[in-house]
Amino acid sequence: MPTATITRKGEDRVRAGHPWIYRSDVIEVNAEPGDIASVTARGRTIGYALFSDRSEIVLRMISHGEDPPADSMWRDRLAAAIAYRESLALDATAYRLVHGEADRLPSLIVDRYGDHLVVQALSQAVDRRLPEITKMLVELLRPAGILARNDPRVRLLEGLEQRVESLYGDMPEAIDVREGAVRYRVDPWRGQKTGLFLDQRENREAALRYARGRVLDAFSYNGGFALALAPKSETVLAVDISEDAVERIRANAARNNLPNVEARAMNVFDELRELERIGARFDTIVLDPPAFAKNKAAVPKALSGYKEINLRALKLLQRGGFLVTCSCSYNVGEATFLDVVSDAAADAHVEVSLVEKRAQGRDHPILVNVPETYYLKCLILRRLA
Ligand SMILES: C[S@@+](CC[C@H](N)C(=O)[O-])C[C@H]1O[C@@H](n2cnc3c(N)ncnc32)[C@H](O)[C@@H]1O
Repeated sequence: MPTATITRKGEDRVRAGHPWIYRSDVIEVNAEPGDIASVTARGRTIGYALFSDRSEIVLRMISHGEDPPADSMWRDRLAAAIAYRESLALDATAYRLVHGEADRLPSLIVDRYGDHLVVQALSQAVDRRLPEITKMLVELLRPAGILARNDPRVRLLEGLEQRVESLYGDMPEAIDVREGAVRYRVDPWRGQKTGLFLDQRENREAALRYARGRVLDAFSYNGGFALALAPKSETVLAVDISEDAVERIRANAARNNLPNVEARAMNVFDELRELERIGARFDTIVLDPPAFAKNKAAVPKALSGYKEINLRALKLLQRGGFLVTCSCSYNVGEATFLDVVSDAAADAHVEVSLVEKRAQGRDHPILVNVPETYYLKCLILRRLA
């Protein structure tokens, strides 16, 4: 049996409910890359973990106690993750089926797009088991096709190459899916993430409760918020820097018969400045930028970026209007993000109330003992004066 011995500090972390053990807390390992190793601390086996010989996260706990995990562990956990999503009865045909650690399947992502699945293997252990996992997914879900979107950069930290390949069945270039009343055409091979920003689905539903008048959807990707809010709005201006994303917004707007959506390929920082210069005003604004702080060192610059876009958006917002503002940087916590937004309101000389504090959708669960799993913050604010 492969084995690993960890420090007292590592043991304390595991006992506090965190599944990751960093290199600095590993004393000795006798295991091959991707093995499941028994984890020993102070002479006792405290559990079992996925081993990686390259990553800073050397061990990812998958079970606790002296007994090794059952042979049926992978299948049982996949089935439990699928059953949980079914119990949510989501009003969508695209959603996350497996969210890594939060489904006790560390570093495995599985997203559903209609009859097709897109998987990501983000550690050596999951990468090695991908053929078995694919077989289990076929047995459990009978999909028409399974694609491996193994191109996230984090795979490089595991010493794994970036590759996108069909694992099973037929995987088309375009898949039609539905989210509430909106129909999207998704490119699972090349789209951002696995094709859509599935984690924002429930925030798009929430934003619809407040949307009205003239809407600005900044950092729109293929029109997620813009298309959801358009039926309740006079006009929608969707802005994204990617020409390809903007083409998709236009195609999706036509597909949904939403002629009030205008899409522009622009840098949001420039566009907000220009809109302010020409005296534009909006009743509803969405800010959903990419993660500005990809690591701790990037936090100060990220905070000034968040402040700038929120300040400019609040100036463009009519009194009584709503701002839906998001941050998907794990390194910027909820309290810090709230501070940034309140600083922006003070500098913009506007009064705002906090209407809702939200996170990623329920198909992307948060583990209370693993702060890294709470990455998406979404605040809904109302401008009072
Ligand atoms: C988190 S995604 C937005 C997801 C989208 N709101 C949705 O609901 O599907 C961030 C988007 O910002 C775009 N982006 C990144 N930097 C940008 C910039 N400076 N100006 C405009 N768009 C930018 C990316 O192309 C990406 O589509």
